[in-house]
Amino acid sequence: MPHKSSFVQDAHRAYDLKVEKSLAEHIIEPPYLLVEESPALEGTVSLAGAKNAVLVIMLSRILARGVSILYNVPASDDVYQMIHLLHELGARIQFDQEEHTMNIDTTDLDGYRVSLEIMKKMRASVLVMGPLLARFGKVEIALPGGDVIGDRPVDIHIKNFEKMGVTVEQNGDFLTAHVKHLQHRNLLLEYPSVGATENLLMLAVLTKGTTRIINAALEPEVFDLIIALRAMGARITVDVPATIVIEGVESLHPAEHTIMFDRMEAGSLLLAGAITGGYVNVPEAPAHTMGLFLMKLQEMGHTILIGKDGVGVKIKATKTPKAITVKTIPYPGYPTDLQAPLMAALAISQGISKIQETVYENRLSHARELVKMGAHIDTQHDTAIIRGVEQLYGAHVIAGDVRASCCLVLAGLVAKGKTVVSGIHHWKRGYDNLEHKLRALGASVVLVQ
Ligand code: UD1
Repeated sequence: MPHKSSFVQDAHRAYDLKVEKSLAEHIIEPPYLLVEESPALEGTVSLAGAKNAVLVIMLSRILARGVSILYNVPASDDVYQMIHLLHELGARIQFDQEEHTMNIDTTDLDGYRVSLEIMKKMRASVLVMGPLLARFGKVEIALPGGDVIGDRPVDIHIKNFEKMGVTVEQNGDFLTAHVKHLQHRNLLLEYPSVGATENLLMLAVLTKGTTRIINAALEPEVFDLIIALRAMGARITVDVPATIVIEGVESLHPAEHTIMFDRMEAGSLLLAGAITGGYVNVPEAPAHTMGLFLMKLQEMGHTILIGKDGVGVKIKATKTPKAITVKTIPYPGYPTDLQAPLMAALAISQGISKIQETVYENRLSHARELVKMGAHIDTQHDTAIIRGVEQLYGAHVIAGDVRASCCLVLAGLVAKGKTVVSGIHHWKRGYDNLEHKLRALGASVVLVQ
């Protein structure tokens, strides 16, 4: 009687043949990422500007009239989407994607409406509310579906806009907000939402008097926005505990800003080194913002070397990684955006790992896809229990969000056979040529369009 695991292997071999056949017969339609088992990744890799900083910083340019220059802008699909949004409002934009430099001219920006076409593609578009209210006292955004007022994901933004004197109404398919006299307030957030903190911050910089955002999100990308706003003339300080204090000014002026490096991309590249048992150097990694993530890699048994002044990380991966327990929480806790990529690495670590996702409901869908590849993962409510296996197997898997796409690509690097990742519009939304960077380290990853 054959051992149970050989049944599993046979089943996966058969699955692999099915993937091959589906590809040959064009049943799986491009675009997709084709990933094959890769050697231990080795080398030095550079980073793009942070996705979670650039979008909001592009929107913050609305606050002043004139030409701003942003450096280190990633050429990802979300950035192009944000360019559309700013065009729609009347801004003129030049983006040199080779140089990663963007000029945003808001001299003729006079629009205050964002169409459904743009809203439905990118939730971050909701961050246009703060700057448009600050500059024109009105804004209309299309509703991406459903009623966003009430117990919905922008309730914290809206409730606090209202505290500052803004009237918010649902008008057909539009959410309309207007204000005559902005009022400075102490705003106590019931949850440190990154988006709500950023939206309120951008309204408060042009609100007369002192506004305090208490229990504010303190993600490094929020600080990058603060730096960018200060360069425009905003007066912002940060107090304990987790309070952002804003002294409103009459007007802001255009300014230059260099977008911080992407700590999520850095983490993903380090995990690519970890999962393949490699040696990867990310000299630009903002290690000082990646504390808990790096600590967890060490707990797994990987050797982590941090550069001078907290910048730059090298990973020398162990070949026998251990299981760990992780819970996602707002910064400086373990970041939710590195939860999915970590799960891929834990799927082949020795022992039983546990991941609890507390920031988002329903952000464990990648677990189901990893199971298709041979992972042993049980998910209940917000928790995934991962029993490490020796081997993953190629399969056709579907990415449900940006970070899930990264998780599945990483799993594909150590899976026997071919892994085909569909749903890669998410990948393109969040990363600027990450597949090229992985290939330069020795990975077999191709974007088939
Ligand atoms: C940002 C990041 C995203 C990251 C997240 C948490 C960008 C473009 N995106 O998203 O990659 O995963 O921070 O670090 O920067 N919530 C409410 N009501 C609200 C606002 C939020 O219930 O009014 C809930 C959300 O549904 C979610 C949680 O709070 O469950 C966190 O959301 P938030 O911190 O606002 O994240 P985003 O700004 O959307």
